[in-house]
Amino acid sequence: MRIVGLSGGRRSGNNELMLKTALAAAKQVCGAELEIIRLQDLKLRDCIGCETCMRGLTTGGDGLCVVRDDDMPWFSAAVKEADALILATPIYDLIPTGTVVTLLNRVLGIGKEYQTYCRTHPKIGAAMALGGSDWINLTEPLMDLTVRNLSKGSVIVDKFVVGHNPAPSMVVLDEAVLERAALLGRRVGEALMDREHAGFAGDSGVCPACHCNLLEPRGGARVGCPYCDAEGTAVIRDGSLVVEWDADKVRDNRFGPAGDAHHRADIAASHKKAGENRERIRQRVQELEDFDGVFVQPPKRDPSTTKE
Ligand SMILES: Cc1cc2nc3c(=O)[nH]c(=O)nc-3n(C[C@H](O)[C@H](O)[C@H](O)COP(=O)(O)O)c2cc1C
Repeated sequence: MRIVGLSGGRRSGNNELMLKTALAAAKQVCGAELEIIRLQDLKLRDCIGCETCMRGLTTGGDGLCVVRDDDMPWFSAAVKEADALILATPIYDLIPTGTVVTLLNRVLGIGKEYQTYCRTHPKIGAAMALGGSDWINLTEPLMDLTVRNLSKGSVIVDKFVVGHNPAPSMVVLDEAVLERAALLGRRVGEALMDREHAGFAGDSGVCPACHCNLLEPRGGARVGCPYCDAEGTAVIRDGSLVVEWDADKVRDNRFGPAGDAHHRADIAASHKKAGENRERIRQRVQELEDFDGVFVQPPKRDPSTTKE
């Protein structure tokens, strides 16, 4: 049994210390081998938007990213057969760090073989994030999506987000946060010991489908979860705002089989529209080529003097 921790922050920084605490607690429960990959050690190029991976996934190809000269192939091999993944990410500008977001974008091209392996060998997943202040509100969906996409078909058993720890390693002063990280680790360990009954054991959150705490207005009293797309009606009950969730919208959320099918159909319909209007697109692009301005580019660098 092997648990891989993904450390998104500074070396021995707050998130890494939470991660080590969680991993140690998991090992006490299930005896798993532990590994940590520091995401800052990876050389990951940005997704270039070529859509080769998506075309591959929908047309019988391997779904692999065309960018192969960085650490993504190594990374996917290193995590593919892990039994559990635990992500710990700092919060930068309300969301996980750019390193984590770059990884998330590149996971789209991780390949069909990896995805199939994960679906047939479901991982246990968990995620946590720590920031320096109370600017933490948009982090949860992206950290959740990173673990979810790295382990399609996984069971995410716990997640939490905390703030107010800006200085390096100061989280050691906060026993409550370290105990919360240990609890997350124990939940991962327990899920690994009893995979059949593994389920989400963290804080329930406002959304019953993904357990996030975000809501968006959707006209009148209708509200939705911007992350998983569950929907319901907001009502005031005993002076409190509560949501009466639609059972079908919760069941058919973005991450279930129906949500997946809807997403694929949605993208296919848009590509069909583009295909049917190829000539019109070409003409409009041509017209817009001649814009009254210039493309401004940075100076060319000498690769021999550029630091990696
Ligand atoms: C560029 C940058 C942006 C940041 N933005 C936020 C933020 O929006 N919210 C927050 O709570 N902390 C923010 N922080 C603080 C870090 O999340 C905090 O220092 C954290 O402890 C770093 O984690 P680490 O020690 O695991 O690397 C930011 C830090 C940096 C460097």
